[in-house]
Amino acid sequence: LYLQKMNLKKYIQDIPDFPKPGVIFKDINPLLANPEATAQTINLLAKGLYGFNATKIVGIESRGFLLGILLAQKMGLGFVPIRKPGKLPGKIEKQTYALEYGEDSIEIQQNSISEGDLVIVHDDVLATGGTAAAACELIEKCGGTVVQCNFLMELGFLEGRKKLGNYALHSLIHY
Ligand code: PRP
Ligand code: MG
Repeated sequence: LYLQKMNLKKYIQDIPDFPKPGVIFKDINPLLANPEATAQTINLLAKGLYGFNATKIVGIESRGFLLGILLAQKMGLGFVPIRKPGKLPGKIEKQTYALEYGEDSIEIQQNSISEGDLVIVHDDVLATGGTAAAACELIEKCGGTVVQCNFLMELGFLEGRKKLGNYALHSLIHY
């Protein structure tokens, strides 16, 4: 099936003053609601990934799950969730990271990554980079190697790239 090249930005909606005043939220729900736009997104994200010989795709709760699982299926790879605290059973690794005000943490199951795994980290948005950098730390604590940090979109003005200087990084859409 030939898909005509779509302007994917058309399916990402600006929501002013959400979740708080002064912030413009990028809503990807219109993209998810359109199967052609979603399929094209996954094809484009996957296209650049085959060269990495990755063994796993990690997605970050919550929005990193949405396209992360589709990307993993597309590439024939297993999907591993990184979750917000207290959600995962068994032995976990935890990483705390700084927010604008205060801090947050994320967790991974120790046995979800094996020594030698080559991992692609996927999330919907690269903003300040704190979340993705913490995810990379977690994967390395488990013995994996991050081969690419992969995002649907990057908010370049927040300079999240600087926190991920040690990793290959790709964003499909730039703001
Ligand atoms: C958003 C977004 C990324 C993260 C990016 O998630 O989905 O995961 O923030 O921010 P950063 O680069 O500044 O760390 P959020 O915490 O809003 O939760 P959600 O994915 O569950 O909606
Ligand atoms: Mg998120």
